[in-house]
Amino acid sequence: MKKEIKILFKIQAVLKRCGYFDISRISREVLEYINEKNISIESVLKEIESGKPWEYICNKASFRDKTFFVNEDVLIPRVETEQIVEIAKDNLDGIKNIVDVGTGSGCIIISLYKELGNKFNYIGIDISDKAISIAKRNDTDGYIKFVKGDLLDNIELNTPTLYIANLPYIPKEMYENLDRSVKDFEPKIALSGGVDGLKYYKKLIKQIKNVNSILIMEVEPSTIPKLKDFTHNLDLHIYKDIFGRERFIRLIPSPQV
Ligand SMILES: C[S@@+](CC[C@H](N)C(=O)[O-])C[C@H]1O[C@@H](n2cnc3c(N)ncnc32)[C@H](O)[C@@H]1O
Repeated sequence: MKKEIKILFKIQAVLKRCGYFDISRISREVLEYINEKNISIESVLKEIESGKPWEYICNKASFRDKTFFVNEDVLIPRVETEQIVEIAKDNLDGIKNIVDVGTGSGCIIISLYKELGNKFNYIGIDISDKAISIAKRNDTDGYIKFVKGDLLDNIELNTPTLYIANLPYIPKEMYENLDRSVKDFEPKIALSGGVDGLKYYKKLIKQIKNVNSILIMEVEPSTIPKLKDFTHNLDLHIYKDIFGRERFIRLIPSPQV
C-alpha cells in the first residue's frame, strides 16, 4: 500500500473515532495541512483526539464557499447559518444599511458584501475585541465598518436598516449539556443566551427605533414561543433551516415593544 494511503487511513480512523461525519474530505485536508506545515502526523492527530475542532486546528472554516480565518476567539460558522444570507437578500427593499450584530468571524456581513457589492452601507458589530480583529482580517476588501459594542449601543442610524443577528441563543440549561467539542473549545460569549436563550434578542428588539427597518435573527427553535409572547406576535415570520427546524425569524421592530 502506498505510504500516503496508509496515512489517510490512519487519519480517517481517528476522525471516525472522534465522531466526524465528512471523513473523506477532512482526512484529505489533514493530509494537506501536515504536508504544507511540515509537521508530524502524530501531533495533529493528538489535537484532533483532544476534541479540538478541525477548523480551530487548521484556522480555516468554510462559509458560502469562501474560506474564513477562525480561532478559538470566534464561533466556527455553521452550515445552517449560511441561509441567513439568502433570507437577508430577499429582504432588501428600500434598505440603505446592513448591520450584522454579533459578527464573530464576519462570515455573514462579508458574504453579503461579496454577493451584493457596494450598494449598501455595511456594519459588523461585536462585543469582543478579538472577534472584531478577526472579522477585519477576513474582510480583505476593507469595505465593511467593524465596530466594537454591546449590541447597538455604539451606533446610531436614521435610514432604513436591515439588522441581521446570530447572537448567543442557547438557553442556560441546554448550554451546560452541549457536546465537549463545542463547550470546551468555542467561546461561551458566542453561545450562551441566558436562562431563556433570549437575553440578547429581547434587548436588541427594544433598541431598534429607526423606521422601515427589518430584523432577521437566528434562534434556538424551542425559544420561539417565548419570543412570540415578547413581541406580541408583531409582524413575525418564521423560516425553517436546511434541517427542517424553525430557525430564523424576520421581525419588523416597533417602538411599542
Ligand atoms: C453565535 S456567535 C455568531 C458569530 C457569527 N455571526 C456567525 O454566525 O458565525 C455570536 C457573536 O455575538 C457576539 N456577542 C455576544 N454578546 C454580544 C453583545 N452584547 N453585543 C454584540 N455582540 C455580542 C459574540 O462575541 C459572538 O461573536
